[in-house]
Amino acid sequence: MVLDTLAVQPTDVLIEFGTGTGTFAIRAARCCAQVYAIDVSEAMLDYARAKAARAGVSNILFCHAGFLTYAHEAAVVDAIVTSLAFHHLPDFWKGVALKRLNRMLRPGGQLYLSDVLMEERNALQTIATFIEQQAAAGEDFLREDAERHFREEYSTYDWILDGLLSRAGFTIQHKHLYSGVFGRYLCIKAEEAAL
Ligand SMILES: C[S@@+](CC[C@H](N)C(=O)[O-])C[C@H]1O[C@@H](n2cnc3c(N)ncnc32)[C@H](O)[C@@H]1O
Repeated sequence: MVLDTLAVQPTDVLIEFGTGTGTFAIRAARCCAQVYAIDVSEAMLDYARAKAARAGVSNILFCHAGFLTYAHEAAVVDAIVTSLAFHHLPDFWKGVALKRLNRMLRPGGQLYLSDVLMEERNALQTIATFIEQQAAAGEDFLREDAERHFREEYSTYDWILDGLLSRAGFTIQHKHLYSGVFGRYLCIKAEEAAL
């Protein structure tokens, strides 16, 4: 779905931040020229490298770094993707990271960002409902995971993310909020990045 949304071409170069076990990077690598898969966790990268090798995919460059530290030395890229990782940054650092990501993209390049985030209306009730749904699906494990997320991590309001994206030089092309606590954005690097 992400690859279709981005209309990825065989010549495209992508960066994925927070690649985790590499599922998206491996799928993407099969239909583009090169993927840079970035994660702060060596354990995740080891797992993802092994998975890519088993899948026979060799055009992924795995890199131990994060949103705030990855230095992209190669040419600007066509698209950046990040899923369920951006909430690890507090809002000030989200802004810093988005400006860094913007500089890694070619003019007109795309950013696909999906994460846990909240609409302001009824936010507390929505979070409580989500935690109950997780508990129903996975008992204590998923309940505690969801509670920890909202207690200790940095999911924010969608309107804050809207502002951070536009201030970092992105135009929001499409935004979809769903299930109360999730959102997806497709953004384009604006012509005149207000950096
Ligand atoms: C919940 S996993 C999501 C993995 C994958 N993107 C997915 O959707 O399945 C979050 C990933 O983000 C990584 N991560 C956490 N902080 C990060 C940072 N500052 N920069 C890059 N990746 C980070 C974690 O190591 C982890 O692999």
